[in-house]
Amino acid sequence: MMQLFPNTPDYTGLNSPIGEEYELSNLPVEGRIPEGVEGVFFRAVPDPAFAPFMEDGGAVLSGDGMVSAIRLSGGKASFAIRYVQTQRHQAEAAAGRALFGKYRNPFTDRPEAGGVDRTVANTTPVWHAGRLLMTKEDGRPYRVNPHTLETVGRYDFGGKLKSETVTAHVRVDPGTGEMFFYGYEADGLASTKVAYGVADRNGNLISEQWFDAPYCAMMHDFTITEHYALFPIYPTTCDAARLKAGGDHWVHEMQRDSWVGVMPRHGKVSEMRWFRGPKGVSCYHMMNAFEDGEGRIQFDQCLSSVNAFPFIQRASGLNVAPGDTGGRLARWTIDLKSGTDSIVETVIGPPGDFPVIPAARQGRPYSHGWMLTMNPQMQGPPVAGGPVGAMFNMLLRLDFSGKPPQALALPPAHCFNEPVHVPSAQAHHEGWLLTVVDEQTGPAPEGPAPEGPPNFRHFLWIVDAGNVAGGPVARVEIPHRLRPQVHGWWVSAAELAAAA
Ligand SMILES: [Fe+2]
Repeated sequence: MMQLFPNTPDYTGLNSPIGEEYELSNLPVEGRIPEGVEGVFFRAVPDPAFAPFMEDGGAVLSGDGMVSAIRLSGGKASFAIRYVQTQRHQAEAAAGRALFGKYRNPFTDRPEAGGVDRTVANTTPVWHAGRLLMTKEDGRPYRVNPHTLETVGRYDFGGKLKSETVTAHVRVDPGTGEMFFYGYEADGLASTKVAYGVADRNGNLISEQWFDAPYCAMMHDFTITEHYALFPIYPTTCDAARLKAGGDHWVHEMQRDSWVGVMPRHGKVSEMRWFRGPKGVSCYHMMNAFEDGEGRIQFDQCLSSVNAFPFIQRASGLNVAPGDTGGRLARWTIDLKSGTDSIVETVIGPPGDFPVIPAARQGRPYSHGWMLTMNPQMQGPPVAGGPVGAMFNMLLRLDFSGKPPQALALPPAHCFNEPVHVPSAQAHHEGWLLTVVDEQTGPAPEGPAPEGPPNFRHFLWIVDAGNVAGGPVARVEIPHRLRPQVHGWWVSAAELAAAA
């Protein structure tokens, strides 16, 4: 059935719905896929299957989750993508039309949507204990077969999980193999209840504790150190009355404090200490946190002075130019020895997002990381796409041990999706970054035009993580239209084989 999607930035150009499940084998490779890069790059890709029946600023975040796999084996590459068979996707497929209204507001749904799980499982493919889970913070994950990409079903840790939500950002300890995770609005819309869970290295849920956040906030990411769990709270808030009136889930409040809750990661939630951050700030992704040996926690995050999403700014009556969001890589120092609730901020990097570190340094002191940013020297506009409306065009390697940063700038009309890191077995080699690069080859069409000329090309780039300025060592073409990815996860061939 032909879908008539609106002629708006959420549904045109790079954001044009594709809505196709397909497999491609023996992809064209330029250069050489490095030895040891053997495994699967799983990607979460939102792609709305049905045209919306109402206007919604947050529409890009509500696209049906698709799980995509780029398999690398013996120097060859293949590609596959399938819908996650969520209850929501199945209900809409059965009805042949959209049933769900605005982003995270069930009061705007059609009556047939009543009682159906609303999540679209479109944010991160989480790999833990041999299971692949497609996650989104508004619901429980869906388990997917990593070999066939078939949906197994909703995942609740064998019936043990009490929280109604699990976020898309978990932290896996490199030493113990435990997965630390949480869910907010854990018992329903606009609730302050947060569930904090720990799964052991075999995936058994060994603890779930609930606490109250200072207010109901969008808690997109959190972080751990070797001994602590950190729960940052930024003032993008939800209100039950607003939802009931058909309004937006999120409004950003510039006058409200930010907070970081800190507790021993195997302790009790009653031990939580709250530290007060600056008012009005926002962050989606954290690079890392660690204990510095002096009784302090250093917590590194892609911070901005206001919520960076234009649709949330509009809902909040804020009018901020894209260059005025005050983005920076910020280090918040939290002194556990002090009797105060204060936080000291140091800027340690430029604006950007999608931070990546070696998995082995999670929660530990680290010397370097990577992230995406906008090339300050770029001539012409960035590629339009994604929820913010502009895609990143520069990859950075940031060094915290005093070495200069490295940058890989894309040519005009190219953009990056979030990279994943693949460690190298070779000593002193920093491994590889895998990232999908979109290239706009012509003007964006007026509205979705499935029969029209192709106007994007897509490549997997493999970059030496210690020499990002050197550019890709291999480029793998994916000869099919792709929609922007949210997050990805690298799973080695050995991990996949062990799970089978
Ligand atoms: Fe995220």
